[in-house]
Amino acid sequence: MTFEEMKALLIEKITQHQLITATISQPRMKSNDIKRIKLKPILLKDIYHIQMEYQFERILKHENIALTEFPAKLEDLFADYRQAHIDLLDEKIHIQLSKKNKVMWKTEKAATQKQVNLSHNRKKNYLLAEDTPYPFLIRLGVQTADGKVKKQKYDKFKQINRFIEFIDDALVHLPKDRQVRILDFGSGKSYLTFALYHYLKIEKGLDIRVTGLDLKKEVIEECAQIAEDLGYEQLEFLVGDINDYNNESAVDMVVTLHACDVATDMALARAVKWGARVILSVPCCQHELNRQLDTPALDIMLQHGLVRERFAALATDAIRAEILSLVGYETQLLEFIDMENTPKNILIRAYQTNKKPSAEQRAKYDAFVKLLHAKPFLANELHDYLS
Ligand SMILES: C[S@@+](CC[C@H](N)C(=O)[O-])C[C@H]1O[C@@H](n2cnc3c(N)ncnc32)[C@H](O)[C@@H]1O
Repeated sequence: MTFEEMKALLIEKITQHQLITATISQPRMKSNDIKRIKLKPILLKDIYHIQMEYQFERILKHENIALTEFPAKLEDLFADYRQAHIDLLDEKIHIQLSKKNKVMWKTEKAATQKQVNLSHNRKKNYLLAEDTPYPFLIRLGVQTADGKVKKQKYDKFKQINRFIEFIDDALVHLPKDRQVRILDFGSGKSYLTFALYHYLKIEKGLDIRVTGLDLKKEVIEECAQIAEDLGYEQLEFLVGDINDYNNESAVDMVVTLHACDVATDMALARAVKWGARVILSVPCCQHELNRQLDTPALDIMLQHGLVRERFAALATDAIRAEILSLVGYETQLLEFIDMENTPKNILIRAYQTNKKPSAEQRAKYDAFVKLLHAKPFLANELHDYLS
C-alpha cells in the first residue's frame, strides 16, 4: 500500500463514522512539543465531529474538527508523525511509516462489532452508573434505596465518578503480581474511598488493600462501620493526622480529594517517600503561598485579593507539579471536573518514572520560587529528594 492509498483508506473509514479511538504518535521531529494525539468521535449539537486531544509533556489540549476538515487534518498529522493505532468498529489498524513514508500496515479483525460512544460530556458513560443502586452509595446517603442519585449529592457523585476514571487510566502503572496498597488521605466521609474500593475490588476483582485516613474520629468510625456491614474486608479506616502517619514502608497509589491546604502536600510528600507509583490528588484551599507572595513586579495583579488568591492557588499547584517532576514523576495538571461542579477543579496526576531532572529544569524551578518568595511546604518535606 502506498502512503497516498493509506491516507485515502483511512479518510474513507473515518468519514464513514467507523472510528472508536485512534492514537497518533512518534513525531518526526524531536523538537515537536506534541508527543501524541488521541482522536475520538463526538457529537456536538448532534453533528458528528472528531475530537483531537493533543498531549504535550505536561498538558492536554483539545480541538474538535468537523468531518469536512478531517482529510486536511490527517494530511498534517502524517506529515508530522510516523505511527498510528486506530480502533475501528470492526478492526484494529497499526500503521508504521518509514522516514520516506514506506507504509507498514497491520490489521486485526475485532471479534465482535463494537459500539461508539459519541456523548461529549460522558454523562451516560459513568463508571458508576446513574440508576444502579450501589450499597455503599445508599449507605453514604448519595443514592436513595432504589438507586436514584439525590439531587443535593449529584456534584459529589460526578466528582467520584470522574476520579474513578483517572484511577482506571492509572491501573497500567500498578503492580499486577501482588496486592496493591492504596491510601486515601483526608478521606472525610470517604465517598471516594468506598467508590474506588467498589470499582477496583468488587467490579474489577483486583487484589487491593485500601486505607482511608482522616482527623475526624466520628466520621471515620461511621465509615469503618459501613465497611464492616458491607463486608469490605480489605478496606480500613483510621483516625489520624497525615503528618504523623508512619504505618507504611511502601504504598502503590496515594489519592486525595480536597484535602485542605498543606494536607495535600503532606500526602504528596508521604507518597514520594513511599515510592508510590501513582499519585492522584485534587487539592483544596491553598493558603500557604498566598501568605508568602512578595513580588512587587506582580503587584498589578496581587493588589486585588481575588486575583491574588487565584494566582496563589494556581502557582501552588504548578510548584507541586514541578517538585514531583524533579523527584522522578511524570506529572500533569489536568482538569478534574467542570467549574460549575466545583471551582477546585485541578487534578495533579503523577506517575513514577524515576527520571532524573535536567539542570535546566531545576534552575527554572529555583528561579520561579525565588521570584514569588515561595517556601513550599512540599519542597521542605522533600528536601533530601530534591538536592
Ligand atoms: C474537604 S474534606 C474532603 C473529604 C473527602 N476527601 C471528600 O472529598 O469528600 C477535607 C478532609 O481532610 C481532612 N484533613 C485535613 N487535614 C488533615 C490532616 N492533616 N490529616 C488527616 N486528615 C486531614 C479533614 O478532616 C477533612 O475531612
